[in-house]
Amino acid sequence: MLEVVDAVCAVRGPEFVAIKLTPGFTIGEIEEADIDEKYSYIIKELNARGDLLFLHLWFNDLKQSEIYRKIRNDFKGKILAEGSLTADEYATGIEAGTMDLIGFGRMFISNPDLPLRLAQDAPLSQPDYETIYTPGSKGYTDYPSWDPTDPEGSVVNPTELTN
Ligand SMILES: Cc1cc2nc3c(=O)[nH]c(=O)nc-3n(C[C@H](O)[C@H](O)[C@H](O)COP(=O)(O)O)c2cc1C
Repeated sequence: MLEVVDAVCAVRGPEFVAIKLTPGFTIGEIEEADIDEKYSYIIKELNARGDLLFLHLWFNDLKQSEIYRKIRNDFKGKILAEGSLTADEYATGIEAGTMDLIGFGRMFISNPDLPLRLAQDAPLSQPDYETIYTPGSKGYTDYPSWDPTDPEGSVVNPTELTN
C-alpha cells in the first residue's frame, strides 16, 4: 500500500493524493485482528509523506469506533469520515472539528435527491439490503425522488422495494 502511495505521490505530489482505509471492516473471511498496531504504523507512515489531500475512512458504525478517535488524533491532515451517521451527526462532527469532510454512500442510493431532501428536511427512504450489494439496477435506480405533493409515495421502505 505504501509503495502505491509513493508511486502516485511521485506523479504530482502528495497534495493530489487521497487514500481510503476501512479500519476494522470485516468482509468475507478478511478480519483485522491487529487494528491498533497496524493503523498506528500506517498513520505514522502517511504523516511522513507530507500533506496528502485527505485520508478517507469508512466504518460500518463511525459513532462506535475507538480507532477513529485515535486516527483523528494522530493523523496530521484532513479526514473524510463516513459511517452510518445522520446528516445532523455529521454536521455536529464537522462543527466540533472531529472530521473535516464527510460522505454519504447508502443513503445516496436510496435517495437519488439526497442533497435536496436534506436541505428541505424531507424524510429519507431507507436502503434495501437485499438488493444493495447485488448486480443489476433493482435497488439502485428505482428509488423515488421527493415529491411534496406525494410525501407517502416519495418515501419507500425495503419491503416495498423487494416485493
Ligand atoms: C453497494 C456499495 C458498494 C461499495 N463498494 C465499495 C468498494 O468497492 N470500495 C470501497 O472502498 N467502498 C465501497 N463502498 C463504500 C462507499 O464507497 C462509501 O465509502 C460508504 O458507502 C459510505 O458510508 P455510508 O454508506 O454509511 O454512507 C460501497 C458501498 C456500497 C453501498
